[in-house]
Amino acid sequence: MAKLWGGRFEKATSGLMDDFHSSISFDKRLFMEDITGSIAHARMLGRQGIIPKEDSEKIIEGLTGILADAKDGKIEWQKDAEDIHMNVEKILIERIGEAGKRLHTGRSRNDQVALDGRMYVKNAALEAREMLVNLESVILSIAENNLDSIMPGYTHLQKAQPITLAHHMMAYFQMFLRDLGRFSAAAKSADSMPLGSGALAGTTYPLDRKSVADELGFSEITENSLDGVSDRDFMFDYIYAASVSMMHLSRFCEELILWSTNEFKFVTMDDEYSTGSSIMPQKKNPDVAELIRGKTGRVYGDLVGLLTVMKGIPLAYNKDMQEDKESLFDARDTIVKSLHVFTEMLRTLRFNTETMARGASGGFTNATDAADYLVKKGVPFRDAHRILGEIVLHAEKEQKALTELPLSELRSFSEVFDEDVYTALSMKTCVEQRSLTGGPAPETVRSAIAAGREKLKAYM
Ligand code: ARG
Repeated sequence: MAKLWGGRFEKATSGLMDDFHSSISFDKRLFMEDITGSIAHARMLGRQGIIPKEDSEKIIEGLTGILADAKDGKIEWQKDAEDIHMNVEKILIERIGEAGKRLHTGRSRNDQVALDGRMYVKNAALEAREMLVNLESVILSIAENNLDSIMPGYTHLQKAQPITLAHHMMAYFQMFLRDLGRFSAAAKSADSMPLGSGALAGTTYPLDRKSVADELGFSEITENSLDGVSDRDFMFDYIYAASVSMMHLSRFCEELILWSTNEFKFVTMDDEYSTGSSIMPQKKNPDVAELIRGKTGRVYGDLVGLLTVMKGIPLAYNKDMQEDKESLFDARDTIVKSLHVFTEMLRTLRFNTETMARGASGGFTNATDAADYLVKKGVPFRDAHRILGEIVLHAEKEQKALTELPLSELRSFSEVFDEDVYTALSMKTCVEQRSLTGGPAPETVRSAIAAGREKLKAYM
């Protein structure tokens, strides 16, 4: 097949070469961005009198038809036409003839692919934001329904202090809220229109770059032609945002995996989001959570892979950069699929709040509160800490909770213990007393939920 750039060649490329450097198998995903960008470019060329108005109109009509056919899956992309840009141009010329040959005036595939990438990232970032907002809504409703559901909080995976399920959920809410900010930042860094950069040194035609930016919904145009064609930071910003979101999902998944074990039994996953074993009839496995935890690695791989591709590239465009797309697409596909299935799994998850509450009462989670009780009666904290350590040692031997020790026994460790210690050490009091901003007290978490709902609005 004759190449659009074939003029200076005496021989055709080998099939092996075509196979190796063709990117159409993956960059065909950019057809929407590519054709929309070309329409804006052609319109501007006509408006500026760089090409005849009639040709500009024919091109726009032709491209609109190709876009519609591509959406309907009616176009067979050709491997020998290399990439999405030349496939579209070739089909355009086949369909409308001479006028089609004027489309590429004042443009290079280098600024074209930079434009497509930026448009793709802007859309993908908004898409991820929408999905995160959905996830946040599910988290908020679980939190709202569990303001008083007491559970053990952990450090080192050892029982530490009582909290509530609502409070625990709201921790994840905060993480995903920051992810929303990161995806917004990615959209912002992609929001600069590179056409007019040409191959690397701009162009001699009087292009109206700003009008193309306006038509395509960009708020800025790129400031340097070399950077315009070789900047991929916006992709890194997106993949980094996706990596951090995956890390957050993965931590959440790890907890759900743990919580669904026979040892914890804090949650029961819905049958719709669990799988069985081909040999062990009793098994119900948390595959969704495990797969997300596993897929987190591939998104990190996408980030590190692309960073590595870019690190040695001299200005401006080099073909290495064609490797950007598969990393970007893979990161996008993985975060989108993961957010979607995770949200549904969470929505259908049952929390076994009684088991959680029972878990909170074991393991001396109120020991800090008992020390604080002594402090509030005048004992220095360091002494109170030691006294409680001794009481815990004693209670552990007796296999009793702190509140099961009679007052006389408590008094043998410290005179200041009184009847009121039993209410002071109930799980309910321990949680309710922690009412500083950020704490688990039901009223505090209620305010956090209201504030969170408000913050979420910025992303809707
Ligand atoms: N397929 C190429 C890519 O994805 C498009 C830009 C090609 N430019 C060039 N001068 N070969 O990067």
